Amino acid sequence: MTLSALKSQTKLTAFGVYVPDRILTNNDMEKLVDTSDEWIVQRTGIRERRISADDEYCSDLCYAAVANMQARYAVNLADVDYIIVATSTPDTFFPSMAARVQAKFGIRSCGALDIQAACAGFVAALQLANGLLLTGVHRKILIIGADALSKATDYTDRSTCILFGDGAGAALLEWTEDGTLLGSYTATSGASGHHLYRSSLSADIDGHPIQTTGKIVQDGREVYKWAVTQVPKGITALLENNGRTTEEIDWFVPHSANMRIVESVCERTGIPLEKTLASMELFGNTSAASIPLALDLAIRDGRINKGDLCLLYGFGGGLTEAAVLLEWSL
Ligand code: UT7
Repeated sequence: MTLSALKSQTKLTAFGVYVPDRILTNNDMEKLVDTSDEWIVQRTGIRERRISADDEYCSDLCYAAVANMQARYAVNLADVDYIIVATSTPDTFFPSMAARVQAKFGIRSCGALDIQAACAGFVAALQLANGLLLTGVHRKILIIGADALSKATDYTDRSTCILFGDGAGAALLEWTEDGTLLGSYTATSGASGHHLYRSSLSADIDGHPIQTTGKIVQDGREVYKWAVTQVPKGITALLENNGRTTEEIDWFVPHSANMRIVESVCERTGIPLEKTLASMELFGNTSAASIPLALDLAIRDGRINKGDLCLLYGFGGGLTEAAVLLEWSL
């Protein structure tokens, strides 16, 4: 477990998102597998998810999220000096999605890398960007959380296919004297990693045989138990280390995997459910995109305001956790 209370020099200065047009509702899922709208809503809080077109991949989701950011804010990407893309579903392992974004937007030659922290990816990218900005070497970093999960979903497995959707979120982070990223927390339970995986080259995770289909496989109950135990501990540690209380949180933005997990975490930590932002109802579990998509819903309906204290908490495959305290700056 790593905790840090930072002198912040990072400010979020622009933001954009994208979801594909195609909607897959719970009624559509009933035609694919033995499930029901009632089961899905009660067990997960999900009503529909967005599915990328056959020829639409993670890179396209990234481009569209950055284009949305450009359309909404007066951004200048010319002097971006680092690009980080968090994804578990890149079109290719290399070139990285970050290098593709650099080329697509004609950004000058700069650092570009993809990171893989599954559903904790967007917050992990925020943390890494914050570290790079703190060194003073980098001044303007573009981060993106994007996943085309439908391309890695087994639509014959009812325990997973009802969960996942596609989307992307982009943010621009800039060096400033008075930053707004106020605290950071990370944790990893690597010994439980085989409960949630997407295979690549090996048929085994440290002695645990795995399916080699390249599709997402999850032992939902194990991951659920882990999440509702670990996330409250992390929230307590992050707040204590930064001298904050749950009452001071304006918005709790957890990874949108399952509304029941969110309810349980709120009950265990005393964060009121009304102070939670989630995106699973409309978009399903979009992994690295779920936290930006939840923030975007709150920007659009005016719930989130400049100066609000937000606790972003990503958790998932690894099993890994990444959380930040962030004062909303847009
Ligand atoms: O994003 C990364 C992190 N991931 C998470 O945080 C996900 C954590 N896990 C979960 O959200 C939940 O475990 C799930 C939503 C995946 C599953 O919900 P659950 O309440 O844990 O269900 P379960 O796996 O315990 O299954 C309960 C029953 C089983 O039937 P039996 O054995 O009781 O007869 C399943 O076969 O529900 C059955 N089931 C379904 N029934 C209808 C499983 N999937 C479905 C389905 N429709 N789609």
